[in-house]
Amino acid sequence: MAVYFLAQSPSALQQLKVEHQNIRRGKQKDEYLNWEDYKKMEFTQNVINEALRCGNVVKFVHRKALKDVKFRDYLIPSGWKVLPVFSAAHLDPSLHASALEFHPWRWEKIQSQDQTCKRFTPFGGGSRCCPGSELGKLEVAIFLHHLVQSFRWRTEDDDQPIAFPYVEFQRGLPLHLEHCPIN
Ligand code: HEM
Repeated sequence: MAVYFLAQSPSALQQLKVEHQNIRRGKQKDEYLNWEDYKKMEFTQNVINEALRCGNVVKFVHRKALKDVKFRDYLIPSGWKVLPVFSAAHLDPSLHASALEFHPWRWEKIQSQDQTCKRFTPFGGGSRCCPGSELGKLEVAIFLHHLVQSFRWRTEDDDQPIAFPYVEFQRGLPLHLEHCPIN
């Protein structure tokens, strides 16, 4: 999803490139990234959050009401299956301004997780929350570090993500890749 959205957002891609070039500067060509480098990837985290918000890789989770639950004017009877649909909150304009726009900069203003925990739940929540969330983000950050510094890419004009109900692309997201390493 990050690769797709970055192809549509040249300004985000440019800022991401600069962040990773700055991290690479001063390191040997094949030197591994370390924890200090990862902590510098602030804009990268914004891009990842925004790709998760817009992309909705996991659209909903399965829950069961263990007792009668009153929610506003509704009663959810004990035993009923409940499907919290994350994309409903992620794409709700009352919770995220210009919700349909890929805008990584929106995450710059977020100070703490408390501000987002109910309107941004790409990894679920509560005791079944995804245990791989930090690993997943780390892997994407390292992948992007190498991708943005060595490749240019574009997607097909008529390709777009669909939710059916899992996310996939109408044309399978073929990429036109060009290898163009910096230095
Ligand atoms: C972008 C990447 C990922 C996304 C969006 C994602 C999302 C989720 C979501 C929404 C859940 C359900 C949470 C709930 O029911 O409240 C989940 C569960 C889980 N995820 Fe992930 N996940 C990702 C990557 C990973 C990775 C990298 C691992 C392991 C290395 C992982 C391992 C698990 C496991 C074991 C569960 C089940 C937890 C449980 O039921 O107690 N996930 N994930």
